[in-house]
Amino acid sequence: MRKQITWILIAVLAMMVLTACGGDDKKEEAAAQPAAAAAAPAEAAAAPAGDAANGGKIYSTACVACHGPDAKGVTGLGKDLTTSTWVGEQSDTQLVEFIKKGRDVTDPLNTTGVAMPPKGGNPAMSEQEIADIVAYVRSIHQQ
Ligand code: HEC
Repeated sequence: MRKQITWILIAVLAMMVLTACGGDDKKEEAAAQPAAAAAAPAEAAAAPAGDAANGGKIYSTACVACHGPDAKGVTGLGKDLTTSTWVGEQSDTQLVEFIKKGRDVTDPLNTTGVAMPPKGGNPAMSEQEIADIVAYVRSIHQQ
């Protein structure tokens, strides 16, 4: 009789352990899914996608005076952005940094002796607006 009770106890314990494990597995699966879903917006934030159409609108107010309506440059002012090898060599992040900083006449990269003002002379320009302009510049760049 005593042996039987021991075996029943062992069996009940074994079932409890198995049930507990099964439950944990499901919890882990459920926890893993929201974590994977949360990773997607974080990646998007690291590389903000620029809106080329909106960038074109900003270009036509902030950059057009020096770089021209077709971005082919204006003699004595901004350079041609459509065929610039330098633009083609820059990453999006580098172009964003360039637009924020501009290019002074003392910069060794300056070839015209004319300064490119930071943000084209629009200090209020936001990070997103600059990303949009970069997307626009990419869309008209031919190399
Ligand atoms: C006041 C005139 C002026 C404005 C406004 C201006 N730029 Fe420029 N930009 C220049 C000049 C001048 C250069 C060339 C500097 C040099 O000699 O390297 C230049 C160079 C550049 C270059 C580098 C081209 C290359 O091949 O080296 C990029 C890219 C550029 N500008 C983008 C922009 C964008 C985008 C805007 C608008 C947000 C803008 N610029 C507004 C004058 C201007």
